[in-house]
Amino acid sequence: MSKVKAAVFASGAGSNFQSIMESSNLPCEISLLVCDRPGASVIEKADKLGVPTYVFNPKEYGSKQEFEGTLVSKLQDLNVSWIFLAGYMRIVGPTLLNAFEGKIVNIHPSLLPDFPGKDAIGQAYKAGVKKTGVTVHYIDAGIDTGPIIAQESVEVLENDTEETLKKRIQQVEHQLYPKVIQQIVK
Ligand code: GAR
Repeated sequence: MSKVKAAVFASGAGSNFQSIMESSNLPCEISLLVCDRPGASVIEKADKLGVPTYVFNPKEYGSKQEFEGTLVSKLQDLNVSWIFLAGYMRIVGPTLLNAFEGKIVNIHPSLLPDFPGKDAIGQAYKAGVKKTGVTVHYIDAGIDTGPIIAQESVEVLENDTEETLKKRIQQVEHQLYPKVIQQIVK
């Protein structure tokens, strides 16, 4: 029997995309990598892994509704039922949200609801917290809000720099996201 189809959305380096692709026993097929930043390194990673890519520049569209409408058609054509946001640095609008209700998941590098938005690791580091972490959650219309599926904490060590903290947080992300996908995809 063929597996359920999913798409990963990313805007940057793509380390989470790679960890999803390399995880064993993935319950779905990653049919498409969607990227909103032409030239982002994740595109090269997808090419190397043989995953088809859909790259677009939001500036070339009149509105979010317009580019999300194009995306929805593309994803429906491919029979995609799940969307995993992995460093997709854009707020998802109603067009995509309504078409994939309850089927869009995001990973965020903090213990939400703390430090939503951009540079969550830098925000936590500068705030001097002793503990931060990773959250995987279903998305809603807000910024890094929506029902939480899993969280894992990461201790901030005495001698941590932002870089060393980021490295440990990303190691946790790379384990947690594939694990959550295995739990929720049926
Ligand atoms: C990840 O740390 C992810 O949690 C974060 O972007 C990074 C992408 O790294 N996402 C957010 O901050 C969402 N608000 P990657 O491209 O190497 O996977």
